[in-house]
Amino acid sequence: MKRKLKIAVLAGGPSFEHEVSLSTAQGVMKNLNPQKYKARLIIIDKKGKWPLDPLKIKKQFDLCFIAMHGEYGEDGTIQGLLEAYQIPYTCSGVLASSLGMDKWQAQKIFTLEGFNVPVTYLIDLKTPRQKINKIIKKLKLPVVIKPRHVGSSVGISIVKNKKSISLALRKAFQYDQEILIQKYIKGREVTCGVLDQGSLESAWPLIPTEIIPQKDAFFNYRAKYMPGASLEITPPKLPATIIKEIQKQALLAHKVIGCSGMSRTDFIFDNRKLWILEINTIPGLTPTSLVPQEAQAMGINYSQMLDIIIGAALNRFKNKCI
Ligand SMILES: Nc1ncnc2c1ncn2[C@@H]1O[C@H](COP(=O)(O)OP(=O)(O)O)[C@@H](O)[C@H]1O
Ligand SMILES: [Mg+2]
Repeated sequence: MKRKLKIAVLAGGPSFEHEVSLSTAQGVMKNLNPQKYKARLIIIDKKGKWPLDPLKIKKQFDLCFIAMHGEYGEDGTIQGLLEAYQIPYTCSGVLASSLGMDKWQAQKIFTLEGFNVPVTYLIDLKTPRQKINKIIKKLKLPVVIKPRHVGSSVGISIVKNKKSISLALRKAFQYDQEILIQKYIKGREVTCGVLDQGSLESAWPLIPTEIIPQKDAFFNYRAKYMPGASLEITPPKLPATIIKEIQKQALLAHKVIGCSGMSRTDFIFDNRKLWILEINTIPGLTPTSLVPQEAQAMGINYSQMLDIIIGAALNRFKNKCI
């Protein structure tokens, strides 16, 4: 009988998405096939303290499954740490993780690659208010104000009138020192996951989903994680050519950022074209999350999807010298 693969499921960490990460990790722990894997949950606390140091993890496990979101877990930090300890891990490497977490840099790459990217300006705490007002005047209200490096809609506002600008700026600056002011795209929100087998050539898109928040004005934190708060339709009721285009662009986004294992790209469809919002290198795997639903729509259940993600990591690290 084949030996079970020993997996450390890394969760939590010093991120605004700590709680979401715990929920993702629970989903992973529950769905890892016990016949194939021996898994242990390793919760890193909000201060970044590990219950088991990486050297011990290296000795006791074959692979780390990174079930973390946001800064530290998804932005290349933990990926770099695991590289340094020569511990194989799931999903994207250091560079793709950093790029995916940095909405400003990722947008520059998407623009170069020919995607439609909403016009965006980067500001920081030193940007004079006069300049900010000029930017908003140029973009015309509504605008979206969002932190540069934070996920899960944390710190994001859609600003519809002048009165709400200050509050939206304060909110975003609570979470990041640099924030984006972006043109608001009116349209239907769609998202599409991609899986691979450890190489870019092997990547394939899942079935996209349309997201329709029920009460909230956009896909905010509540709409993302409250069961039933958003209607999620997989596949969206859109013409087959548009579905194909969403898949094509999600696959291309995965490739140009250099992702591995899994990604999910968010778009708005304005009835004419697709606008790319961002790519997630560790999309949520909570009970309400989208990638598991999109995989299921293709006949891949949650456990099988985890097998694919783990297989991708094993393949990727087989070709490396660690
Ligand atoms: N330019 C935009 N136009 C319209 N809605 C947007 C725009 N940017 C963000 N949103 C809304 O905010 C949500 C979160 O934004 P996103 O850029 O995907 O960041 P994250 O999911 O990492 O927090 C989106 O799912 C969408 O509902
Ligand atoms: Mg998003």
